[in-house]
Amino acid sequence: MTGKGIGIQGLKKRYGRGDTAVDALKGVDMDVAPGEVVGLIGPSGSGKSTLLKCLGAVIEPTAGTMRLGAEIIYDDGWKVKDIRALRRDRIGFVFQAPYLIPFLDVTDNVALPSMLAGTANAEARRRALELLEALDVAHRARAMPSQLSGGEQQRVAIARGLVNRPPVILADEPTAPLDSERALAVIRILNEMAGKFETAVIVVTHDEKIIPTFKRIYHIRDGVTYEEQGQGRGFE
Ligand SMILES: Nc1ncnc2c1ncn2[C@@H]1O[C@H](COP(=O)(O)OP(=O)(O)OP(=O)(O)O)[C@@H](O)[C@H]1O
Ligand SMILES: [Mg+2]
Repeated sequence: MTGKGIGIQGLKKRYGRGDTAVDALKGVDMDVAPGEVVGLIGPSGSGKSTLLKCLGAVIEPTAGTMRLGAEIIYDDGWKVKDIRALRRDRIGFVFQAPYLIPFLDVTDNVALPSMLAGTANAEARRRALELLEALDVAHRARAMPSQLSGGEQQRVAIARGLVNRPPVILADEPTAPLDSERALAVIRILNEMAGKFETAVIVVTHDEKIIPTFKRIYHIRDGVTYEEQGQGRGFE
């Protein structure tokens, strides 16, 4: 793994072309240090998901630069050869909808990305259980996804996003279906992960319960970001 933290400069994304083109990102700057958890807030259609997808190499930006650790990964074009490997090994995604694999139990859902990255099955399951415990769902470790509540599924999906300890975690509305206590537990574990493994974490959210925990917040409006000092002291 080459260095940590992420940086973006002048990032643009245009969908489509000609008369129907949409400029979803119009020059976004952002810097997230290793160990930092930042909030990304903005109205519907402002470009939040587009930004996360660019950062996670799910879609290709139109212009600008992106740095992952010390490595420039995008500079008016991809600078890494294997985009799939980048996505799989260096980015942790936590989506709004959990997308668990229905025929694997909870432990194996969480352990799978670790197994795919080459960790021995027993060790991958051990890591999975540790995260399930931290997220307060270890008692459901042998259950199948369909047997879980929506909030439990979401916490399992979060554990899965963390299992490979990626240097970057991108979370799109991770706490939306959770009650206050569990939403804060998720943010606490993201902060712990960030501190322990020098992870850079970006959390897209509308969730009033967690907004006060961020030390730094980026606001996005019409494809442009503005930085704000948050009210939060984090969790240390
Ligand atoms: N695949 C696409 N093709 C064309 N336009 C798109 C596409 N995806 C998003 N857009 C447009 O880009 C803009 C930003 O969309 P994006 O999904 O990033 O917003 P968002 O901030 O995540 O909104 P929400 O809070 O509703 O999820 C919107 O105007 C949207 O309509
Ligand atoms: Mg979105």
